[in-house]
Amino acid sequence: MPRHPGVLLSNIGQLLTLRSAATGPRRGASLSDLAIIEDAAVLCLGGKIVSVGTTKDALRDPWLKKNRKKLTEIDCSGRVVLPGFVDSHTHPVFIEPRLVDFEKRIAGAGYEEIADAGGGIRSSIDGVRKASKSILAEKVLSALRDQARHGTTTVEAKSGYGLSLESEIKSLQSIQIAARQWPGTVVPTFLGAHVVPPECRGRSQAYVELVCKEMLPAVAKNKLARFVDVFCDRGAFTEKETATIFGAAAAHRLDVRAHLGQLSTPSAGFIESLLQTCRPASLDHMDHVTDADLPPLAASDTIATLVPGANYFLGLNRYPNARRLIDAGVAVALATDYNPGTSPTISMPMAMSLACTQMKMSPAEAIVAATINGAWALRLGDRKGSVEPGKDADLAVFDVKDYREIPYWFGMNRCVLTVVNGMMVHDALD
Ligand code: NIG
Ligand code: FE
Repeated sequence: MPRHPGVLLSNIGQLLTLRSAATGPRRGASLSDLAIIEDAAVLCLGGKIVSVGTTKDALRDPWLKKNRKKLTEIDCSGRVVLPGFVDSHTHPVFIEPRLVDFEKRIAGAGYEEIADAGGGIRSSIDGVRKASKSILAEKVLSALRDQARHGTTTVEAKSGYGLSLESEIKSLQSIQIAARQWPGTVVPTFLGAHVVPPECRGRSQAYVELVCKEMLPAVAKNKLARFVDVFCDRGAFTEKETATIFGAAAAHRLDVRAHLGQLSTPSAGFIESLLQTCRPASLDHMDHVTDADLPPLAASDTIATLVPGANYFLGLNRYPNARRLIDAGVAVALATDYNPGTSPTISMPMAMSLACTQMKMSPAEAIVAATINGAWALRLGDRKGSVEPGKDADLAVFDVKDYREIPYWFGMNRCVLTVVNGMMVHDALD
């Protein structure tokens, strides 16, 4: 079979193209603009989208008339087709689920209480340090395959449970190995600054030095990551430490992103100075932001990536205030935050459902946030996230008549086909 056979999706009930005359992250009213074509067709050749329009127009095309038999044609009547989801925040390099923490939390323990008792992020370190690279790569690959089955075609994958030079490199290499066996697009992120590991407890400065002077140079030299992330919050890394690590990232020409405002409110002016000095691609969680943070965020191209799966799984009754961010003009994305502690799900439709029911985003806003804005959060907006000629052939087919059903049917997978860089990797069509 050729690596990129031609694929024609025809008779599509609703095709959500998300095409737009303007480039850049979507905000405000443009977050609701799905640019739907009914009875539509999409032709993909060589891993790229080459034409998008009505089925009638597509079938009139002389090239298509001549070559139709050579294509794999999928009848999508009564179905919805949309750009493959871009999951721009995941932590897939871990070994075990964290079931003791799960039970403790149900019994009433809080995030920091669990961490102080030796649970939380630190309890995943041992498993990763002891695991072989190939076992870790298998874990990552199995998550990627699940993700494709749920309509995800681009995934950001972070290290962050090794927290030593050797184990962070091993984690990033395992992402690289898995990525080579998966036809989708994987964007690796170095999260050496996830928490201070036990052997450096009370010596965070020494650990930050290790991150900046040993880990980061090795990551950059071996081209193992596209981004550097820091968990900047109470109990993890301070704003000053974050700025130091981002400075080192810039020196190695790596772009940055941060976990911010999950547990505590960033100090006055910190977000604005971060935007100016480091131009982060994305600031993630953002449960806690002040009104003063909103105008500079809205004026920037930095995406606020909301991860409601973490709030859901932590049993919190509060969610990031998406409406406040959207109304202020901030570009928001949605991601799963797939990880063993706070969000063990790979399902973007589940994240979208939570966004609708708990954060009052409309289904259209949730779709834009899970596709094109996720793509911008990875600086891939010119290649991913919408169905337009020239873009990568990443498409998800859902067995629903109306796009609003994607977040509506929560907890079930209605994705029946995923086209990933022009290849059909998940086919559950009858
Ligand atoms: O995004 N907040 C920091 N990191 C993860 C949690 C990781 C873990 O608990 O293992 C998050 O929620
Ligand atoms: Fe995270």
